[in-house]
Amino acid sequence: MRVAAVAVAGLAWPAGSLVPRAAVGVGRRRVGLAVMEEEKAAEERLAFEDTLMEEWSEAWEGEKDKEGFDWEMEKLRRKLEVVPESFGGPKFWRRMIEAEPESFYAAYEGSTYPGSKPGGLDSFRILFNNLLQFLLGNESEDLAPVAGWDWKGALDRCGPGAFGKALVSGDLQGLVGGPLFLLLTKYHRELGPVFKLAFGPRSFIVVCDPAIARYILRDNSVNYDKGILAEILAPVLGKGLIPADPDVWKRRRRVISPAFHKKWLESTLSLFDECTAELVADLRRRCPPGGGGVPPGALPDSVDAWADWKADGAGALGVVDMEERFCSVSLDIIGRAVFDYDFDSTHTESPLVRAVYRCLVEAERRTTAFIPFWLLPGAHLLPSQVAFRRDLDLLEGKLDELVAAAFSEDIGEDEMLDAGAEVADAKKDGEAVDRVSLLRFLVTVRGEEADGRQLRDDLMTMLVAGHETTAALLTWTLYELFHPSGRSSHHLERLRSEVDGNYAARAAEGRGTATAYEDVVACAFARLCLSEGLRLYPQPPLLIRRALDSDELPAPYPSAARVKLARGTDLFLSTWSLHKNPALWDEPETFDPTRFERPRRPGPDAPAGWRGFDPAKIPAQALYPTEQSADYAYLPFGAGGRRCVGDQFAMLEATVMLATLVNEFDFAFALRDPKNNLTPKEGLGCPVADVGMQTGATIHTENGLWMTATPRAPPAHPPPIPPE
Ligand code: HEM
Repeated sequence: MRVAAVAVAGLAWPAGSLVPRAAVGVGRRRVGLAVMEEEKAAEERLAFEDTLMEEWSEAWEGEKDKEGFDWEMEKLRRKLEVVPESFGGPKFWRRMIEAEPESFYAAYEGSTYPGSKPGGLDSFRILFNNLLQFLLGNESEDLAPVAGWDWKGALDRCGPGAFGKALVSGDLQGLVGGPLFLLLTKYHRELGPVFKLAFGPRSFIVVCDPAIARYILRDNSVNYDKGILAEILAPVLGKGLIPADPDVWKRRRRVISPAFHKKWLESTLSLFDECTAELVADLRRRCPPGGGGVPPGALPDSVDAWADWKADGAGALGVVDMEERFCSVSLDIIGRAVFDYDFDSTHTESPLVRAVYRCLVEAERRTTAFIPFWLLPGAHLLPSQVAFRRDLDLLEGKLDELVAAAFSEDIGEDEMLDAGAEVADAKKDGEAVDRVSLLRFLVTVRGEEADGRQLRDDLMTMLVAGHETTAALLTWTLYELFHPSGRSSHHLERLRSEVDGNYAARAAEGRGTATAYEDVVACAFARLCLSEGLRLYPQPPLLIRRALDSDELPAPYPSAARVKLARGTDLFLSTWSLHKNPALWDEPETFDPTRFERPRRPGPDAPAGWRGFDPAKIPAQALYPTEQSADYAYLPFGAGGRRCVGDQFAMLEATVMLATLVNEFDFAFALRDPKNNLTPKEGLGCPVADVGMQTGATIHTENGLWMTATPRAPPAHPPPIPPE
């Protein structure tokens, strides 16, 4: 009867968690026992909601569950959900029997949108502390060691011109003389796993410790929101999941998570196959076998020369920028899967595609800006801001159009839920079927009466979150596997033999080359290569949070002080440093997918309370080593309530693409003399990749990943048929 309980849970809370409004609504005044009890009740209710969300998305996954009384009740519940509140629908009854507790977030209500904004007093407290620390050398109230700004080093690294420009434009990356996360790793090594980074009035507590990450992302996640990230992204993503404040987030996540159900994910595999086949055909066109490309002697011989060559249209000459190709394909995929729109960016560069890219660049620029220059008086007149507004209008207009179209052809919920099954059946029979987009699902389910604007924000968020991240994952994994030093050739060999075996199995079963979910599961080493790609190059390399209330972080080591956070403190959780911490990972700078096949026990220098990595703890259905298996020393898709909703989608997409590409092509770095020209840059405490590195929301190369792609001969299996 567990399932029946879930079925009716949509209509009522369990009796124990019914909390009268008057008893709960005291918000944040933490005085007296009564208040503490009320807060506890509110927290219990939040926990209950989370469990409910999880159960809802899991309860009806298996086909065999869909029978009997429970399933009939569930169907009835789903039917009733569409009855409007004014006609006595479930929302009416829910409102009658539930009391809405006042939000934990209420203290920030109206302060800013959509994230929290520390009040004047909070900001003054943080600033005053920083000033005392800098001017008088006092110990900080937060007890975190302070990283000084090495402006001389930054000046040396980027030169006076670029440094001056960064100073004027407030570009943080320029002010540190390289990607910010590299600098954080340097400080991590010097100052330990929790420290403060202060730039004049602005400061961030930086965390590189697994137990503290667990605390912030899971155990006390209710006390943290996206803070500064939300402020920056609001103009682009509105109230989409990434910047959403905890209240909006709770409502939308409940609706969006179930959209990524397994049947739907399986149905996207044919889309990944199609788009990968287009990429293969495109690479064959650009890099014809046996020549037609540039003679090796004509290739530029340094990374700098590449930048000029790229501008002169090198792509037509038999080499290809794989970073750019991955961006195009993943944009096409996300457009088709999420809102049924084909950007066709693999073949053309429409004004809309250009608008998408420019919006992303602006969003990234804002993410690394030292001051919110776009808010300064008159900033809206700057040519860059005028262009940004124009691009955003174009993009938003298109999304509004798609949302309106989806509203007008609203399909029934049953039809929607059966769509996944239909796709699976039709795939078996070789029929063509309409894939159901995520937008259709959201329009049909329309949780909490989401309006067009909310849906547009949701879609924009998927577009931004799911596009460059996957492209970056593929770029850096390919970079590592085909590195000219040959340092990963043994991994490449193992990967190819796994993929060849899998294609042979598909052929033996008469399935052709179409990828089934089981094929992705069977390509375990391919998935580990991608997981290792995410360890070395986490996307994004920093997670950003703000403390909604004062808090005390766990001590990273028994002898270390517990860092105290003032309300409104901004935090960076550096996944880049966490993933490369030698106390957590052996040879952390080396690309070694096999590390996830053996346990890593905590050594004597491991942080307090870290339980190590254990492959046995990776759940059977997981497509990658989860954060739990590494006890939060590995956070490829974040953790806790705000972990990535698209993780399975991304892993399926990337596995299909990686497996196909390594099977079809031999890639080589397009440099005349790679050994002499590919020297990693030093100066920030750890090497910067030899193709250069820059960052915004994700990690990019500096000049692109230019490669030649030679078809493997003889092909291990018939090449995929390019679509007409
Ligand atoms: C390799 C690809 C991807 C990586 C590495 C990645 C990584 C992440 C990470 C680390 C977070 C947590 C951010 C935080 O806690 O601040 C996140 C959140 C999110 N991701 Fe992904 N992601 C990927 C692909 C996708 C895809 C394909 C989609 C959608 C189709 C997606 C949608 C989202 C959304 C909506 C959130 C916000 C979740 C929430 O706050 O509830 N991501 N992602």
